[in-house]
Amino acid sequence: MKTTARRVPATAGIGLRAPHVGRVLAERPPVPWFEVHSENYFADGGRTLAALSRIRADYPIALHGVGMSLGSVDPLDVEHVGKLRRLIARIDPWLVSEHLCWSGIDGHSYNDLLPLPYTAEALAHVCARISQAQDMLGREIAIENISAYVGFPESDIAERDFVAAVVARSGCRLLLDVNNVYVNSVNHGFDASAYVAAMPADAIAEIHVAGFDASGPCLIDTHGARVAPEVWSLYRKAVARCGPRPTLIEWDTDIPDFAVLQQEAAKAAAILVDADVLAA
Ligand SMILES: [Fe+2]
Repeated sequence: MKTTARRVPATAGIGLRAPHVGRVLAERPPVPWFEVHSENYFADGGRTLAALSRIRADYPIALHGVGMSLGSVDPLDVEHVGKLRRLIARIDPWLVSEHLCWSGIDGHSYNDLLPLPYTAEALAHVCARISQAQDMLGREIAIENISAYVGFPESDIAERDFVAAVVARSGCRLLLDVNNVYVNSVNHGFDASAYVAAMPADAIAEIHVAGFDASGPCLIDTHGARVAPEVWSLYRKAVARCGPRPTLIEWDTDIPDFAVLQQEAAKAAAILVDADVLAA
């Protein structure tokens, strides 16, 4: 039987990264929950996993995967899924998530989250893979919309309709990355607000916000800066339309002092509180 994803209150969590683990362990800062990259904790034992187990004693944890390659036509990596299953048993996360992408083919793995062609064939394929992964894990997972810098000429479904159809067909939850929507809307020329409005609100388990780099010819989703004003604005719209949802500050490169992450989380929390007040 499949375990339904649990919920944490609609609060603003922080992505837990290695430079901050010591401080979190020592000071137990007032953060409602943390998210970690699943693959960093796949070892059977060791200090890294021990630290996460200690943190888990005081905080809810979401497990966010980057390596399942759900969209690939290679067979699902049974060993990878097995490691995730063991980590889930150890950590008892409130949510397990992965990306709507592929990152390997013919046994070769790439260090990228690559987009699918948005076609009926790819939709059927990835939905079957998500169902297979959920069956193997024995629980629901949430799927995140990715940022992408290329597209396929074969795509004949809008990205937003493809994402919504994946959720409807596979029965998975949605991790809505508002920064990815914004970055893609600029790079590929679509309406970000219409994208957010097309998302299945009831399925949204979590929202991500992050910073991008605007110094080049297109926006790059670096997770290395404060959340841009345009993304906060889109986030506000998403929360107003879909209701408050647990929201994560993602910051993976040029990782700042923990206090900066707390400031960003406080901005998200204020928007969530506003939405709650308006809904009351
Ligand atoms: Fe994300």
